[in-house]
Amino acid sequence: MEYRRLGKAGLQVSELSYGSWLTFGKQIDEQLAKDCMYAAYDAGVNFFDNAEAYANGKSEEVMGKILRDAGWSRDELVISSKVFWGGEKPNQKGLSRKHVFDACHAALKRMHLDYLDLYFCHRPDLDTPVEETVRAMHDLIQQGKVLYWGTSEWSAQEIMEAYSVARQYQLTPPTMEQPQYNMLQRTKVERDYYKLYEVVGLGTTVWSPLASGLLTGKYNNGIPEDSRASSHDDIPWLREIFEGEKAQPKLDKVKKLTRLADELGMSMANMALAWCLTNPHVSTAITGASKVDQVKSNMQTSEHKSKLTTDVLDEIEKILDNRPQCSAVLIWGLGSRDWVLGDWKKITQYLFPVTTWI
Ligand SMILES: NC(=O)c1ccc[n+]([C@@H]2O[C@H](COP(=O)([O-])OP(=O)(O)OC[C@H]3O[C@@H](n4cnc5c(N)ncnc54)[C@H](OP(=O)(O)O)[C@@H]3O)[C@@H](O)[C@H]2O)c1
Repeated sequence: MEYRRLGKAGLQVSELSYGSWLTFGKQIDEQLAKDCMYAAYDAGVNFFDNAEAYANGKSEEVMGKILRDAGWSRDELVISSKVFWGGEKPNQKGLSRKHVFDACHAALKRMHLDYLDLYFCHRPDLDTPVEETVRAMHDLIQQGKVLYWGTSEWSAQEIMEAYSVARQYQLTPPTMEQPQYNMLQRTKVERDYYKLYEVVGLGTTVWSPLASGLLTGKYNNGIPEDSRASSHDDIPWLREIFEGEKAQPKLDKVKKLTRLADELGMSMANMALAWCLTNPHVSTAITGASKVDQVKSNMQTSEHKSKLTTDVLDEIEKILDNRPQCSAVLIWGLGSRDWVLGDWKKITQYLFPVTTWI
């Protein structure tokens, strides 16, 4: 396992991490959750991801019990939670100072922890002034209950606003963002956030690197039993990932990619995870798994990374055919100074983001 810095922060996270969405407190029992977490830990994972919303807090309880009983040293672990969806009543959700504080205290209690390493605003809250949220996060940091705070699925503009407010009032700016990123979902990480890596020093803890399992190739011939697609009827948008009109073009690509992975002597899942890690702006890719074997095989990705040579990446790019395109906004975002100074390296990086990480 290799470790990467979380953006410009000093903190180091394992390049592959493990999260509990849909599994802990829901799809798998406590013993299996424990076995999966131990398998991840044994493979060198130091970052475990959670949220108040996962199984309505049950996921944090399950993880908390495992952490308490495991006896792993707290100072080697990076544990996160997220605030936004706490409950149905007015003050049980969103990013008001009250809910940010209440959710943090509840997460610490459920996970038997004194502090969270990473605390995310799970979505932007348009009903709360960003200054209120930034100040609440700053205060939690001052109190030692949180070490680094960040956002999840915020737009580049929203992150920049939080950063600017923090700088204006001498508060702690966000350190990291948690966006979806995988071979089929690239725009935010490769294009929208581009300026933020430089200006903010943003780290990313990307989610669904296997597109919920689609990028393992196991859906190539239909939906298997005992899979995420067959286990979560209560989440309609999830099913659209795996079947129907929208899914078909993606499945066609995955079939071609699976053949390429076979030729290279690696699993489709290992290729998809290794591909995410070729992007240096990814601090860690948070994997999910419902079985110990999945954890073990996913964690073998590091051994296969060298197979993604420039030629192989070109081949993958041809199959994917979804490299994010430059927009007028992005060209504008470069700033007139870059054009005036003729900073062609920077301009080219914006126009062809992928050239910067090959
Ligand atoms: N911030 C956010 O908004 C947000 C949103 C979603 C997730 N997350 C975080 O990101 C983490 C990972 O997301 P994710 O669970 O969607 O990740 P993922 O790695 O894309 O998908 C994980 C699922 O794919 C299947 N799978 C994984 N490895 C496999 C393998 N080797 N072979 C066959 N099937 C395999 C398993 O499902 P089955 O076995 O059930 O088919 C597993 O639960 C979450 O746990 C959570 O911590 C954050």
